[in-house]
Amino acid sequence: MKNTMKKVLGIAVIAVMLLGLLASCGGGSTEPAAEGDDEASDLPLIGIMKLMDHTSLNTIEDSIISGLEERGYKDGESCVIDRQDGQGDMSVMKTIAQRFTANKCDVIIAIATPAAQAVLSETTDIPLIFAAVTDPIDAGIVESLENPGGNVSGTSDAISPSDIIGLAEEMTPGFQKIGALYSAGEDNSASVIKDLKVFADEKGYEIVESTVTSSTEVQQAAQYLADKVDIVFSPIDNTVASAMAVASDVINSAGIPYYVSADSMVQDGALATYGIDYTILGDETADMVAEVLGGAEAGSLPVRTMSEMSVYVNQETADAIGLEIPQSVLDRATIF
Ligand code: TRP
Repeated sequence: MKNTMKKVLGIAVIAVMLLGLLASCGGGSTEPAAEGDDEASDLPLIGIMKLMDHTSLNTIEDSIISGLEERGYKDGESCVIDRQDGQGDMSVMKTIAQRFTANKCDVIIAIATPAAQAVLSETTDIPLIFAAVTDPIDAGIVESLENPGGNVSGTSDAISPSDIIGLAEEMTPGFQKIGALYSAGEDNSASVIKDLKVFADEKGYEIVESTVTSSTEVQQAAQYLADKVDIVFSPIDNTVASAMAVASDVINSAGIPYYVSADSMVQDGALATYGIDYTILGDETADMVAEVLGGAEAGSLPVRTMSEMSVYVNQETADAIGLEIPQSVLDRATIF
């Protein structure tokens, strides 16, 4: 009798606890979530995925956000912006792309080539506007720049390595061996290196390659080139850019002129480049996003390339390698 009583009481207590739990769950999740959903569904949802944290991608992201604001899309007021950092990791980027797809973003913005590739492997339905994809065709993102088709378009930071080597001929003439420091896994770099090789062949320059698979290998890969080449060149490579302090330290210490492909890489320690303005690129990207939110089909918008190019030089680096920058270069360069 005593035992039965205990059992009944025990079951009653558990039942009450369970009921309480269920009630609090119901109250906790259904109501506020429904309210939240209602609010959110009024505003366009924009997902931004940046490949990783490095100077240039941060500049692009900031410029996109302010460009959107100028066009009437202010986060938390007239749209909701979900900003995500892919941490340079394919599996992180896959999870982010799945999140954007599940949340039914109105438009996704992918900053840098691997981020755009990660989004496209999760969804081809949600409009994708990419930012700073060096070669969208080689990277398999669009089939045509003029008429991308599907639900994808964006901005490209295509540059010409022959222009940059041309700058090297003006600043530090007389070289023969060019070291190429880049990441083997980035399609954006492969495309520039392909062009570099064609140009080097024509001009009779020798290319010595040194590739990395992650930023931790950059120091060693740079060191490998230090006693073999006359100048070093890096394409618009995210992995190298994220380890720019290390790369430029090694190459500058060896007294070798280091030519790169983006202003941020010069700012972070390399000698010089002839490249585009990434703040303008970010603004152009925002313009395309606004067009899509206004009803345009992403794939009907031509990919935008940047026509304005400038020379960027790092004075401290020039001093460190004992180089006097020619007046002709100083006259037109932005000096960091
Ligand atoms: N163009 C690169 C890509 O396609 C991204 C990028 C933008 C970048 N700015 C850069 C890479 C500066 C290195 C340095 O992925």
